[in-house]
Amino acid sequence: MTRQYKNIVILTGAGISAESGLSTFRSEDGLWNKHRVEDVATIEAFIRNPDYVHEFYNEMRPELFAAQPNAAHKAITTLQEKYPAQISVVTQNVDTLHEKAGNKNVYHIHGQINQMVCLNCGHVFESWGAFSSEDTCEKCGVTAMLKPNIVFFGEDLLCMNDVDRLLRSCDLFLSVGTSGVVYPAAGFVQIAKMFGADTYEFNMEKTSNNMMFDAHIYGPAGTTLPTFVDKLTAEVKQ
Ligand code: APR
Repeated sequence: MTRQYKNIVILTGAGISAESGLSTFRSEDGLWNKHRVEDVATIEAFIRNPDYVHEFYNEMRPELFAAQPNAAHKAITTLQEKYPAQISVVTQNVDTLHEKAGNKNVYHIHGQINQMVCLNCGHVFESWGAFSSEDTCEKCGVTAMLKPNIVFFGEDLLCMNDVDRLLRSCDLFLSVGTSGVVYPAAGFVQIAKMFGADTYEFNMEKTSNNMMFDAHIYGPAGTTLPTFVDKLTAEVKQ
């Protein structure tokens, strides 16, 4: 790697938080093997049984609140501090481990577990608390319209105008800990590649869209990403 990069986009998925003790979605003991997506991650499920959906996220909040960032999250902070480029994190994760590690320019395209949104007035607020269909929006006063600010299947992703701009201008695209099966995120590598980026995939194994990447670095991200960052920062021309 001798190219000096100017704009770096790092796409992350549940795998980057695995070494912080958080479940991924599609592994053997993953979240989607314990709960049906149709019951907890679609708007239809929320309308059909809001309190069942609230309970799923109420149970998730304390674990995510207590989770600590691992070496992979911290490596991104090191890169942002030491490498002279615009470095953005586009995360599919709803945990706040990127922020806890000190990462800047973090875009949560699937939302955040510590935010709620009112489906009546659009008000978004932060909370690590527990919610039910009895709760009222502090802004519009309407009850039973508060939903976790997490993008459910079938809903539009968040921050997509920013993300599209970042993908079209990046010259290095890293994908870390995502199975590459959920679009549009799984298609981001194609946009980056089309606009001339070098593309690297960090995973434990081959993924569904691995042919889209120039290089693959296999192993736990808590080890592979810090090593990659050390190499990249060592090449910065003094
Ligand atoms: N280091 C690197 N990669 C890892 C590690 C690790 N320590 N542990 C697991 N992985 C990889 C797995 O091999 C897998 O490819 O992380 C990936 C996790 O894949 P998923 O469980 O499918 O999670 P993700 O890709 O983030 O899912 C995308 O799907 O259900 C939706 O909204 C949900 O944001 C989520 C989206």
